[in-house]
Amino acid sequence: MTDAWSTLPEAFCARAAQLLPPAALHAFKQAFAHQPPMAVRWNGPGPLPDDVLGALATAGVAPRPMSWFADGVHCDTGDRSMVRALPVHADGTLVLQAASSMFAALCVEAQPGEDVLDVCAAPGGKTALLHRSMQGRGRLVANDLSRARIARLRDQLEALHVDGVQILTGDGVSLARDLPECFDRVLVDAPCSGEGRWHVGQPHDWQSWSLSTVRGLAKRQRTLLKAATDMVRPGGVIVYSTCTLAPEENEGVVADACKDGRLTIDPITPVSEAMVPGVCRWGDVSWPDAMAGTCRIHHGVDGFTGFFVARLRRT
Ligand SMILES: C[S@@+](CC[C@H](N)C(=O)[O-])C[C@H]1O[C@@H](n2cnc3c(N)ncnc32)[C@H](O)[C@@H]1O
Repeated sequence: MTDAWSTLPEAFCARAAQLLPPAALHAFKQAFAHQPPMAVRWNGPGPLPDDVLGALATAGVAPRPMSWFADGVHCDTGDRSMVRALPVHADGTLVLQAASSMFAALCVEAQPGEDVLDVCAAPGGKTALLHRSMQGRGRLVANDLSRARIARLRDQLEALHVDGVQILTGDGVSLARDLPECFDRVLVDAPCSGEGRWHVGQPHDWQSWSLSTVRGLAKRQRTLLKAATDMVRPGGVIVYSTCTLAPEENEGVVADACKDGRLTIDPITPVSEAMVPGVCRWGDVSWPDAMAGTCRIHHGVDGFTGFFVARLRRT
């Protein structure tokens, strides 16, 4: 385990040790070196059937229903191929989706009949869950900058029998010019350094990591969140999420967005021991106490992958 960890950039390891309490750092290292946490979501009609839980148990993935989401199940052992082999996965009624990803989409609290925008949507995992929360009623717009990833989103939505989503391909920042104050809720699942999903088997994911990459991403994230602020209606909700640990890309971006007084932090209630308050201090920078209402999710704890979620309300 120690060997695997030492393959990561030294500066990242030092930052993780500074940011994470010892037990969370240990869990991160375990998940990094062994098995990233796995979870599934029921996508069929009605509540999750008992026989699906039975099929998951027989497949050997140790299903553990989520206390906070009736359609979600942590899978504590095994690997993704065991789920993919099940007929319920093949027909799109059971979806592999990270628990943190489900949690972020649920924090949007999208309601039937609302206007909802997913700014950075591809490949569409969260879009599909937003659609389910909206019971297919209302206007759901899924946008992404990447044409190739939008193609994957189309395929995924089709495989999951999700229809009626308006799909756009473009820069989320420019979108704000055409769609000012048009949405009740906006999800910004931002492009990020992805530290929370690094795994020893995928070295490509961290080979280009550097502090300057983190800072560059933070700049891009700030412009996306500013655009989302322009697109949500007064009283509306923005959820900002990343799958990274870096405070510059998380609390730093949220603090910047709240500076002009148009957004306030709507505190997130933790649902697991994996969830801890956002940090109010990093290095020589400090942020308002309200930042503790954002949510960091520890990687490898209680079946979650590393994530950050903030819910913001437009004044
Ligand atoms: C973390 S991924 C989104 C994952 C997706 N929400 C899901 O749950 O499946 C971030 C996405 O942001 C997109 N992206 C990057 N810059 C963007 C921009 N300026 N406008 C819109 N999308 C952008 C990337 O192409 C990438 O698909």
